[in-house]
Parts: sequence; C-alpha cells; structure tokens
Amino acid sequence: MTHANDGRNAFPGGADYLIRHATLRQLQLLEAIVRLGSFTRAAEELFLTQPTVSMQIKKLSETLGTPLFRHVGRTVEPTDAGREVYGACREILSTLTDLEVKLSDLKGLKRGRLRLGVVTTAKYVAPEILGAFCKKYPGIEVSLGVTNREHILERLMGHDDDLYVAGQPREVNEQIECIPFAPNPLVVVARIDHPLACERDIPIEALAGESLILREPGSGIRDAVVKCFEQAGLTPRVRMQLGSNEAIKHAIVGGLGISVLSLHSLRLESAGGGLALLDVQGFPIMRRWHLLHWRGRELSLVARTFLDFAIAYEPEIAERLRNAQAAFDQTREMLRGQRSPSA
Ligand code: PGA
Repeated sequence: MTHANDGRNAFPGGADYLIRHATLRQLQLLEAIVRLGSFTRAAEELFLTQPTVSMQIKKLSETLGTPLFRHVGRTVEPTDAGREVYGACREILSTLTDLEVKLSDLKGLKRGRLRLGVVTTAKYVAPEILGAFCKKYPGIEVSLGVTNREHILERLMGHDDDLYVAGQPREVNEQIECIPFAPNPLVVVARIDHPLACERDIPIEALAGESLILREPGSGIRDAVVKCFEQAGLTPRVRMQLGSNEAIKHAIVGGLGISVLSLHSLRLESAGGGLALLDVQGFPIMRRWHLLHWRGRELSLVARTFLDFAIAYEPEIAERLRNAQAAFDQTREMLRGQRSPSA
C-alpha cells in the first residue's frame, strides 16, 4: 500500500496517513509552542528537552508535508499551515479534555483532576482550601496556577484551567459565570516606624509626597491604586515597580517606601513583622474575589464540588481577615500610646 497523495488531500497520504504517522503528543507540542510563542517555554511546560520538541515538530512537519514554523529574528511564528494545524489541535485537545471530564465524572469523586488559576492575592488562601478539599477527596489531583489579573484573564480566555479566582472582569461577558467569593481589601502598608503609622483618618493627600512601591502592569492591585489616586486628583510618586507582593513587603521593610497590598498577604505580619497599616481615608479599597468559569462549558463534577466547597469556606477566610485587621488596629493604638507626648 502506498501513501502517495492522490491530489484530493492537502498532505501526502491524507487523513489515514496522518492518523498513522502523527501523534497526539506532537499536536500537544504544536499547540503549546503557538500558545507560548517559544519552543523553550513549550519544552518547559511539557517537561521535555528542547531537542526532543524540535525533533517531534520536524517529524510532524514531514508528515504534513509543509513547514509549520518560521523564525522571525529571535522568535518563532507559525506559518499559515501551522496556524491551521493549531486551530485543529485546540479542538482535538479540548475534545479530549471534555472526554476526560466525562470519564472521571463516571468515577464520582474518587478520581479526577482540578486545575485552578488564581490571582496573586488569592495565593494566600487557595492552597489552604485545596488542602482541606484534598483531605476530604484524597484521589483528586490538583494544580494551582498563580499569576496577575491580566494573565489569569488570558488563561480564562484560553480555557487553560477549570476554575479561576480573580476580581470581576471589567468587560462584562455573558459567557462567563462570575460568582462573588471572599472579600479582598486593599490596604496602605508602611514600615512600623513610619510617622503616619500611629495616625487615624489620614487624608489621602498625605500620600502624595510618599515614595510608592507599585505592582507591575497587568496587576489588579496596581489598577485599583492608580484609579484611587486619579479619583483624588493626585499623581503618585512611584519609587519602583515590583512583580511580587512578597518582594514589596521586603522593600517596605528595607525603607524603600509605602505600598498598597491585599490584607490577605499581610496575615502573618499582623502578628508583628515590622509592618503597619496606615489608616488612610478611602481605604481599605473593598474589593471582592469572584469564582469564574465558562457558562457554555459544563463544569466537571470535581470542579463543581470544589466550587461549593470554596464558597462554604468563605466565612473562615473572612474571619481571618477580621482578626488581621484587629491586630493591625491594636498595633496602631500601641504606637499612639508610645508616641504621644504624654507617654
Ligand atoms: P493582582 O491581584 O494584583 O495579582 O493582579 C489582583 C486582585 O487581587 O484582584
């Protein structure tokens, strides 16, 4: 039997030839390279070496009888054929994921997988909720992706995870179910020896002269801070930008300035860690996380169960926030006592 192209097929030997010579792994690789824009990042994501990835793509390209990528400077781009194959790959991989969901639903909650994508502020509670969930359902494998708001929304658009925790998307999209979840207050944080640390009801204008440490573009916290300053008619004096809440805390302790962070990220420091909350008018900015998922795509039994589990966990999260806020308030009163002239 030969596999010569009889003229009706776009690649040598037609679909039958493709079924026998291409592998699902090769399609998965192509999908990852186009999505991530790099052979190296695709190799990392799939735990393969770069030569293996290049070799598999070369084989796929030979099977299809057409180049799939071209190099543009230091980056790689799909050819028109590569883009077509990418579209088909996404459909095939999404069908397989749906199949996995259906098959694991048949097994109930004994087995299954949950992929959760959360904004950085939620990383301070998500592992704990996942821990309690896995204790109850030990057969379930979980993965947690943590990144900023912009990238979480990209993951949502790319159907990368089952469920997401983020602020409400600004662009109201009727295809996305958006369930209000726990509160996420944003507070002004300074080093404990900051002169304003013992003050109450500080006007926001008092922040105009402070060096501000801001999160990176794409961060939800950054957007909220910039908006807050804009509404007050102030221009923040940005001393530096940092892509991590933890690094910002260290920068504050290091004397580089003040910042605005989620109270969730300060829970440990509320028990005494060199940081204080400034009682600024208009703060905390009261935000709320939401649990997001696509309406048109049925949630797996595991994801549905996790959703209910997380919602039931909310009072515990809210209680912790109240405790953290109370501890910081107590610190302020203590500082007031220490710094008042009569003390
Ligand atoms: P982020 O978190 O700053 O990491 O994007 C956003 C949020 O809490 O909404």
